[in-house]
Amino acid sequence: MRIYEAKDYKDMSRKAANIISAQVIMKPDCTLGLATGSTPIGTYEQLVDWYNKGDIDFSEIHTANLDEYRGIERTNEQSYYYFMNHHLFSKVNIDKNNTNIPDGMNPDAIAEGKRYEEVIRSLGGVDLQLLGMGHNGHIGFNEPGTEFAKETHCVDLAESTIEANKRFFASIDEVPRQAYTMGIRTIMQAKKILILVSGEEKADIVAKAFFGPITPEVPASILQMHNDVILVADAAALSKVSK
Ligand code: GLP
Repeated sequence: MRIYEAKDYKDMSRKAANIISAQVIMKPDCTLGLATGSTPIGTYEQLVDWYNKGDIDFSEIHTANLDEYRGIERTNEQSYYYFMNHHLFSKVNIDKNNTNIPDGMNPDAIAEGKRYEEVIRSLGGVDLQLLGMGHNGHIGFNEPGTEFAKETHCVDLAESTIEANKRFFASIDEVPRQAYTMGIRTIMQAKKILILVSGEEKADIVAKAFFGPITPEVPASILQMHNDVILVADAAALSKVSK
């Protein structure tokens, strides 16, 4: 695992955008695995800025997002579909037909998991998977205790995740209790992984996930087994890692 320490959130976002844009320049028709949450917002802003300056071209890019809440419409401002359009897709020259997000409104969880895995396979797999990490070490929506062998599936969100995500909703009762997520196995099949972490409140989990034992209790710890992972974290997030 390569670790790049960034000064702060802005620097982390710029470094991450640099890595993504290098990937796009090296392989203009690559498949990017994308993530939501507050962490990658600055990265998307930086990519949009470079796009506006003519430095990056998304016309041949395909994307596959990590996850989506179950049971909320795409038009809901809290859906990850809405998030991706708002922060990236509507602001760059990506072909919307080339973007993929699990369908939160598919009532058939087994069928949705299979469909999404087939989408990823048909794209030839993910070239570069962007990840954030939850406070409990979750990646995508793979909560502690999830089997590493799972592919895309439906999950019940942990109470701590519902609590952490309530800031985006009018009340905690509106936070969906379930989501569709790429499984750990799906994530581990990406050729390259770029994981971003920012802020002191994630310092403990960064130390556990990347320097502690590999265990389903800390889902991100499995990334230690991937042969091409880049962690870009700011100084605050790395503050509990001994150097
Ligand atoms: C959500 C998403 C994850 C994300 C995590 C952390 O639960 N499903 O993909 O990494 O939150 O979010 P944040 O970046 O806002 O801390």
